[in-house]
Amino acid sequence: MAKFDFSKRDSFGTKFGVIAAAAGSAVGLGNIWRFPYVAGENGGGAFLLVYLLFIIAIGIPVMLSEFTIGRSAQRNVFGSFKRLAPGTYWYLIGLLGVVAAFIILSFYSTVASWTLEYIYKAAADSFSGKTAQELTHMFVGFKSATFRPIIWQIVFMGLTAWIVLSGVKRGIEKYAKILMPVLLLLILVLDIRAVTLDDAGKGLEFLFQPNFAKLNTSSVLAALGQAFFSLSIGMGTLITYGSYINKRENLASTAISVSAADTIIAILAGVAIFPAVFAFGIEPEAGPDLIFRTLPAIFQKLPGGYFFSLLFFILLGVAALTSSISVLEVVVAYFSEELGISRKPATIVAAIGITALGTLSTMSWGALDHISLFGNKIFDMLDFAASNILLPIGGLFIVIFLGWFFGRERIRKELSSEGLFKVNLLQVFMLIVKFLAPIAIALVFLNGIGLLNF
Ligand code: PHE
Repeated sequence: MAKFDFSKRDSFGTKFGVIAAAAGSAVGLGNIWRFPYVAGENGGGAFLLVYLLFIIAIGIPVMLSEFTIGRSAQRNVFGSFKRLAPGTYWYLIGLLGVVAAFIILSFYSTVASWTLEYIYKAAADSFSGKTAQELTHMFVGFKSATFRPIIWQIVFMGLTAWIVLSGVKRGIEKYAKILMPVLLLLILVLDIRAVTLDDAGKGLEFLFQPNFAKLNTSSVLAALGQAFFSLSIGMGTLITYGSYINKRENLASTAISVSAADTIIAILAGVAIFPAVFAFGIEPEAGPDLIFRTLPAIFQKLPGGYFFSLLFFILLGVAALTSSISVLEVVVAYFSEELGISRKPATIVAAIGITALGTLSTMSWGALDHISLFGNKIFDMLDFAASNILLPIGGLFIVIFLGWFFGRERIRKELSSEGLFKVNLLQVFMLIVKFLAPIAIALVFLNGIGLLNF
């Protein structure tokens, strides 16, 4: 097998390109599909507060740690640890990341397949004149069928593989720059419609008024898992992307911009969804179905609803695509740089493997819904294992690696781009990566899975 030629490694072109690509990874189904329903299941306002706290205290530092590791090593997630810590077992964190990537993309592509069906339905004007109940029927009927969702899933994985194949930067960087701002604009339009619905207050109250009685240890773990999932951290996506960032970019400001964009879009998605949830009599605990039932209902009430719903689902699909590309890239970069498989077969093999696991996740809404563990179907198991277990564990070891192994001076060198920037608050960052973040992640995690009880 041919060895990878590291002198030919790709990189991002511009500063805005870096932010758009990293934000393209972060902003996706996690913000628009997952955030509202997880917040809904966990009581709303108090969940949001805990979530925000985790973004600031843990999410941003983990993201910055990943960028630092990746850019310093200039390698895929596995190779980064091997290069920075030769002769140790740290590369196992890299392997964990590759496994997490497999699992995440398998269930992510299930939801992406729903999005593609909804683009099709929107184009065929299938929502108009339907009541909230009829829209629910329509969704449930579709997702529990076998062939249709799987076909869409194959289409989606094919698209993802195709972009990764044809070189990430030219594709993603270019499209992300245009599509991300359009997505933001469209969500704002939905927000305006949502907050002017009758009874919008109830929805906003649900999202913004903290009711701590509804918070328990598993919802705190859910908030941590959501923060990791939404920021694309804990599995080396941003180590991989970080390795493509130019040595002269300011990593700290990049991490802050990307996290801010991600968080704002999640909140705006919540503002679009919850008023509609209450106005149309849907339960906020409706789970993964939530947006597919509420959004078509809001579109009905919008002048130009046909146009907006079509545009919205297209953009949602694109947001999903720019995220799924970043997940597949983790596996492909590993296959090609470490195993010497060239990019094309590496991409094809990875995509086929992920799709195979993914069909089980898709069928768990229909033909396979009897298979469950602790009351969770395959889809939920994969999501829980990745988001609430693998990502926090990955994040935990990433900050421990940076704080305790990589060390302060190498961090200063990387964050200052070898003296180009002044590094503010290094002291605070060190405190967070050495103590605060590891302790917080460990406590929330052990508590959430029930190994520790407060
Ligand atoms: N952050 C992406 C989203 O919100 C999902 C993702 C998770 C991407 C983990 C990469 C790694 O949709």
